[in-house]
Amino acid sequence: MTLRISVLALSAALAACQPGGGPADTSGGSTTQASVTAETASPRVRELVAQMTLAEKLGQLHQAAGGRSRNLNSRLTPDELDRVRRGEIGSYLHVAGAAPLGELQQVAVEESRLGIPLLFAMDVVHGYRTIFPVPIAMASTWDPEDLERASRIAAEEASAAGLHWTFAPMIDIARDPRWGRIVEGAGSDPYLGARIAVAQIEGFQSDNLAAGDTLMATAKHFGAYGAPIGGRDYGTADISERNLHEIYLPPFHAASEAGSASMMTAFNDIAGVPSTSNEHLIDGVLRGEWGFDGLIVSDWNAIAELINHGVADTRADAGELALRAGVDMDMTSNVFAQDLATAIEADPGLMADLDRAVMHVLTAKERLGLFDNPMAYHDPEREAAAMLTDAARAEARRIAARSVVLLENRGSALPLGPDAGRIAVIGALAEDASTQLGSWRARGTPETVTGLLQGLRQGAPAGVEITYEAGASPTSDDLSGIAAAIAAAEAADQVILVVGEDYDLSGEARSRSSLYMPDSQRALARAVLDTGRPVTVVLVSGRPLAIPDIAERADAVLASWMLGVEAGPALADVIFGRVSPAGRLPVSFPRTTGQAPFTYSENPGGRPADPDLSRDSNRFHDLPITPLYAFGHGLSYSEFEYGDIRLDADSVAPGDTIRLTIPVTNTGDRAADEVVQLYMRDPVASVARPRLELRGFARLALGAGETRSVSFILDPAQFAVFQAPGDWRIEAGSVDLHVGASSSDLRQSVTVTVSEAGRSRSPAASIATRIEVE
Ligand code: NOJ
Repeated sequence: MTLRISVLALSAALAACQPGGGPADTSGGSTTQASVTAETASPRVRELVAQMTLAEKLGQLHQAAGGRSRNLNSRLTPDELDRVRRGEIGSYLHVAGAAPLGELQQVAVEESRLGIPLLFAMDVVHGYRTIFPVPIAMASTWDPEDLERASRIAAEEASAAGLHWTFAPMIDIARDPRWGRIVEGAGSDPYLGARIAVAQIEGFQSDNLAAGDTLMATAKHFGAYGAPIGGRDYGTADISERNLHEIYLPPFHAASEAGSASMMTAFNDIAGVPSTSNEHLIDGVLRGEWGFDGLIVSDWNAIAELINHGVADTRADAGELALRAGVDMDMTSNVFAQDLATAIEADPGLMADLDRAVMHVLTAKERLGLFDNPMAYHDPEREAAAMLTDAARAEARRIAARSVVLLENRGSALPLGPDAGRIAVIGALAEDASTQLGSWRARGTPETVTGLLQGLRQGAPAGVEITYEAGASPTSDDLSGIAAAIAAAEAADQVILVVGEDYDLSGEARSRSSLYMPDSQRALARAVLDTGRPVTVVLVSGRPLAIPDIAERADAVLASWMLGVEAGPALADVIFGRVSPAGRLPVSFPRTTGQAPFTYSENPGGRPADPDLSRDSNRFHDLPITPLYAFGHGLSYSEFEYGDIRLDADSVAPGDTIRLTIPVTNTGDRAADEVVQLYMRDPVASVARPRLELRGFARLALGAGETRSVSFILDPAQFAVFQAPGDWRIEAGSVDLHVGASSSDLRQSVTVTVSEAGRSRSPAASIATRIEVE
């Protein structure tokens, strides 16, 4: 309550800051509005809530598990159907299938007292049947349109299989590669993360949630799940308010603005307040300040786990805390269904919160069209026709090839042509089709994957011979295959060495203390590199790895992450030169485990890192000051030249925009993509600002010799400094803008002046730069 008052007071204070009363509020887009209430809910939702018993209301807030992975739907027993008849379930997760879910839906709408349809949910993260590259790989495309298309196809397949709701996108900013869930997101940067979040939401939801072929998206995990101490999953995020708002929350703000129909709260706590009971963040910032009116679901069992956090004594207390904070639906802990009634009995005032939650659940069902057409998702013929189509596979291959990052290419070792001779493919991961699916694989299966070895065999030019040796697997200590791998390398003209992590070394609860490859993979790499044959390393992983030896000794290195069902053909497209790689790192690769977390975007400090060891500066004494591969890094088979920057004005006022234009030329003799990156630096501000901050990017397709001009249209609200939620300060003064090929390869710079101070309501990094390409 205290908090609601303070948010209102804050809004009033902001309102007083309008022109005439202080610096201009140029807003940046966000408008405060109420969440769904008795006043704003539809007549249907209001009428239903008026008729519902307490038990029926609690039932709507309960999300039950239908089974998990191979046991999908296994818990949908006859007893369970009776629960649906009694209105005790609002939603199921980990279920699938047009027909079985259709039967269940029929029971809900025809046999329960009020006929309220069920919501069916699953983690459809990077594909349903057609599995696309893992999210960190797709983020490496630096092309939001690719993510939108992948999400659209995932939605078409999953909705045909009876699903309404996906727990994706995961938009947690992750700067510590020890955290296993870094694989599920878009990496370390709030600006890139915000653009990718929006693209995925648009892909899943399209422009009509009720169309029957869309999925309700879930932006997760609100608010700083990606910042656990030490990178250990589920751990405390002990971060400053500035970091929370400037780094971790911007993708969530962008998701809210893009109309994400739901959000999920995080398992962990921020400075002692679990996100699942964080009234300030959920009710105050998300709903109050940002005007988010979608459905808020807890994570799995997270409401009951408020007891483990030590902020609730009993399950009833835990339920009360989560409900008051603004959580609407309880994923599997059963606390809302079983224990909330006790809390409501003790404090009938909670009924208002309960009704709010029920209205959010019913409104989500209404937005999905479930009241009007509950059977729209249950046509088995449509389901059969929708899966793994040729067109979807072609998209998966195209996007996978665009996800690959060329980290090294000494002496233009790649691409390999028809004269490559005999190629030894070495490494058990080359044959591990399952790993290419990543840890979230919905209904994807290894048999549908064209693995790396298979793809290389199929895609090699005529005359090229491919041999294979497993050498060593990342999941075993058995090194006995290394001798045969050495022999195969020695007998070959070229080696493609596939090493790294298998799928089960990243993902939920898969944090690692070491950022090196598993020992077997290091031993295999050393042995193969020692043969002196030309070696292309294909690094398979769900996180940035420290690969200093490989970086130094291999002829070429490709970060291929985990590439989905078309992994092999896509890799072959890159290695044999049908596609010029243009993936860019969405997070830096460290030199050693101890260098992480490392970001290009740190504050310089009073003694900025200096390569000169005789000076005392902000660095490790035993490492260079740079990462192994910087944020934004990625090579091409071609080369690009950046021309002079043109600005349409020298200064800009809050509320106006400024246009920066730069020509980029492909100076090579083949068509290739370049990712043009725009960074800012505020050199003097009221608080120390990061060394660099990404504020725009464009992936350009350029023919040989072609020049295209990119314009970045910037709003000074994008330079603003966090003051308080909804209060961002645009400071007068100069801002340096740099354009280049990565955060460590800036080619052109210019300075603009912000002519006067102003205010904005939106997090700076959540505001999109308009891009025009001529
Ligand atoms: C726990 C994970 O943290 C979350 O991301 C996921 O959506 C749920 N489990 C449901 O599977």
